[in-house]
Amino acid sequence: MKYDHLWQIVDPLLDWYRANRRRLPWRESRDPYRVWVSEIMLQQTRVETVIPYYGRFMERFPTIASLAACEDEELYKVWEGLGYYSRARNLKKAAQAVCAQHQGIFPAAYEEILALPGIGAYTAGAVSSIAFEEPRAAVDGNVLRVLTRLTQDDHDITDAKFRSQVTERLESVYPPEGRGDFTQSLMELGAVVCMPNGEPVCGKCPLSGLCGAHGSGTQLRYPVKKRKAVRRIEEKTVLVLQCRGRIALRKRGDKGILSGMWELPNVDGTLDVQRVCQWLAGRSFEVGALRAPAPGERQLKHIFTHVEWHMTCWIASCENEGSAADLMWVTAAQLEDEIALPSAFRKVYQYYLSVRVD
Ligand code: ADE
Repeated sequence: MKYDHLWQIVDPLLDWYRANRRRLPWRESRDPYRVWVSEIMLQQTRVETVIPYYGRFMERFPTIASLAACEDEELYKVWEGLGYYSRARNLKKAAQAVCAQHQGIFPAAYEEILALPGIGAYTAGAVSSIAFEEPRAAVDGNVLRVLTRLTQDDHDITDAKFRSQVTERLESVYPPEGRGDFTQSLMELGAVVCMPNGEPVCGKCPLSGLCGAHGSGTQLRYPVKKRKAVRRIEEKTVLVLQCRGRIALRKRGDKGILSGMWELPNVDGTLDVQRVCQWLAGRSFEVGALRAPAPGERQLKHIFTHVEWHMTCWIASCENEGSAADLMWVTAAQLEDEIALPSAFRKVYQYYLSVRVD
C-alpha cells in the first residue's frame, strides 16, 4: 500500500468500525463540548482510566459556562490523578474564551477551534470531524502506527512535518459522509487491533489484505521513532510535617512542572539528618519526633514525561506550626475531599499513613 491508494482503507474501516466499536461514554453524543473534553482527557491517558473521570467531570461541569465559572481548586480535584494538569487549566481557559468570544457556543469553524487554548491540530481535527462532520483528520501516535504499518513508511513519526504531511494525505481521502466515524475508526483500530505493545491482532484487521507490514511480517518495525531523550533524574527530599492532627502543604510556583499545584514541602537533593534539622530549625519548628528513612528504605519514584523524581521522605512531628508563611495546614479530611494533591505527593502521603505510629 502506498499513500496514493489510501482511499482503499475507507470503506473497510467504516464497516469494521460500525460493527465493532466499543461503547464508550463520549460516543453517546456528538456535542462538541463533550467530544472536546474526552479528547483532551484521552491524550496521554488510557481509555479505561478516562471513563470514570469523564463521568465525574461531565456531572460536575455539564456545560461550557459551568466550566468557565468554576474554581481552580474544584477543577483540580476532579482532575486529581489524571496528571498533566495544564490540560485542565487550558480546558477552563478555552471555556472562558468560548464564553467571551463565541457567546458560550463551541465554534464550528476549524480555525476557530484551533485558536482555543490547549487545542492543537489533533484535537481540532477530532472535534471538527466527530462533532461537525468536517473532513479533518486527527493524527496521533495510534493513527501514525496504523498508517506507517500499512504503507511501510519508515519516516520518524516524531517529526512534526511528517505528521502534517500524513494529516494532509489522510484528509484527501475523507469520505463524503461518516467523517466522524472515519476519524474514530482509525483511533479504534490503533487501540484494539494495531496495538502499540506487542504483536498486533492482524487476524481481526479489516486492512490486513492492504497492509504492507502484514504482508511482509514487519509489523514491529513500525512506527519508527527517533530515540527518545533519556529522562532526567531529580533527587528530592520531601518533608511530611505534622502538627496537632494536621499536615503542612505549600503551593508550587507558577512555572514548570505541576505549576500552581499543592505540594508537600520539599528540597532539591538528598538531605542528611543535619540538613533536615537545619531546614526545620530555620523555620522555627520545635520537633518532637523525626522519622528518617529507614536504612535500606527505597526512595519513592514518580515518573513525569521528561523527569523522574526520586524522593526521600522524612516525617516530622512538630510541637508548633513554625514560622514559614508559605505553609497551609490541613486535616486528613480536607486532603481527601477538597484538595488536589498531585500523584507524586499522594505517594508520599500514602507512605506517611503506612509508617506513622501515632
Ligand atoms: N483515543 C483518542 N480519542 C479517542 C476516542 N474518541 N475514542 C477512543 N479512544 C480514543
